[in-house]
Amino acid sequence: MIFDRVWLDAHLCTMVSREGDPLGVIEDGAIAAKDGRIAWVGPRADLPGGAEITTRCDGAWILPGLIDCHTHLIFAGDRAREFEMRLEGASYEAIAKAGGGILSTVRATRDATEDALVQAALPRLDQLLAEGVTTIEVKSGYGLDLPTEARMLRAARRLPGLRQLSLQTSLLAAHATPPEFAGRTAEFARHVAEDILPAIAAEGLADAVDAFTDSAIGFTAEQTAWVFDAAQRAGLPVKLHADQLRDDGGCALAAGYGALSADHIEYASPDGIAAMAQAGTVGVLLPGAFYFIRETHFPDIATMRAAGLRIALATDLNPGSCPAPSLLLMLNMGCTLFRLTVAEALAGVTRNAAAALGLADRGTLTPGLRCDLALYGISRPAELCYWIGRNPCLGRVVGGA
Ligand code: NIG
Ligand code: FE
Repeated sequence: MIFDRVWLDAHLCTMVSREGDPLGVIEDGAIAAKDGRIAWVGPRADLPGGAEITTRCDGAWILPGLIDCHTHLIFAGDRAREFEMRLEGASYEAIAKAGGGILSTVRATRDATEDALVQAALPRLDQLLAEGVTTIEVKSGYGLDLPTEARMLRAARRLPGLRQLSLQTSLLAAHATPPEFAGRTAEFARHVAEDILPAIAAEGLADAVDAFTDSAIGFTAEQTAWVFDAAQRAGLPVKLHADQLRDDGGCALAAGYGALSADHIEYASPDGIAAMAQAGTVGVLLPGAFYFIRETHFPDIATMRAAGLRIALATDLNPGSCPAPSLLLMLNMGCTLFRLTVAEALAGVTRNAAAALGLADRGTLTPGLRCDLALYGISRPAELCYWIGRNPCLGRVVGGA
């Protein structure tokens, strides 16, 4: 018994590019786990030795467990009323400027207990997991004060104790200017950099620091830099909501800090894209938010491809711009709206999503990596991008279990 467990009669989508096949498909393959790690991957006929437990997969497809690298999973309330207002003609930006938008979720989240935040998040989380997600990133950003930002992150950190999953947290205190700092955005950005961020870092509640750079409803490049400088002092990597609604130079700013990722990036300039590719900053596309706020300016995929930018796809699950707890839907939207190939879309929720979180131990089916798997009842990988609102996931394996 050299392995703890093997899976047989499966087709493998290793996501390790080989011989002109970017998906690294192994038909009639086998995968073996030992001590929570992948121990062996290959054609079934070559599988060495035996295992304690053998699972026959009846021709299912196995992919690396999916990674949702950008979510705002923890929040209270909803924004259905705003959705109605937008149907009546108001824009996402106009609602935010009138004190709605992110700030209406801030009011609800400040009023919620840690338990209430956990309970509200679980049904949304369960939908993501049911589709084969094994790693999720969760941001704060609906507290905008130290107690509530900390409460959101503590609520997020409780989720792996309640469900089988691996979780990364990001502090997004620089998400909007809270009412008590109205008209004093610069002062709030300093408060984030000097008080909130160091306290969160000291408690070890965040794995990364995020911000929303936007000249109309977010933070300027200069204010974002104060927060990023503080993140660097605390030894935390950064990522950025960048160039979502206009080109504010967010991508170049993120690249300049060696950010793990710059996200949204609909308005990223060719220079911004080049800077990201150069710095190794992953471009995270959020087609659900693009769709839901009816954005019309497309991300420049051709320039991203030409630059060799690593592209990830995520849900951006949040009450305002993407109330969609489905990463499979984002695969479809990434292909349909942005014309990503199937291989690009699947890399975007596995290998490149791992890179967007700075996680080198997952994202492909490779010996030595975590044994996080997603099993699907499909006839070919393209089916994962093809269906709308159909979930062919048969099961998940998290850390070999
Ligand atoms: O990723 N751009 C800012 N932040 C979120 C939206 C948050 C909200 O509207 O509640 C986003 O789209
Ligand atoms: Fe977001």
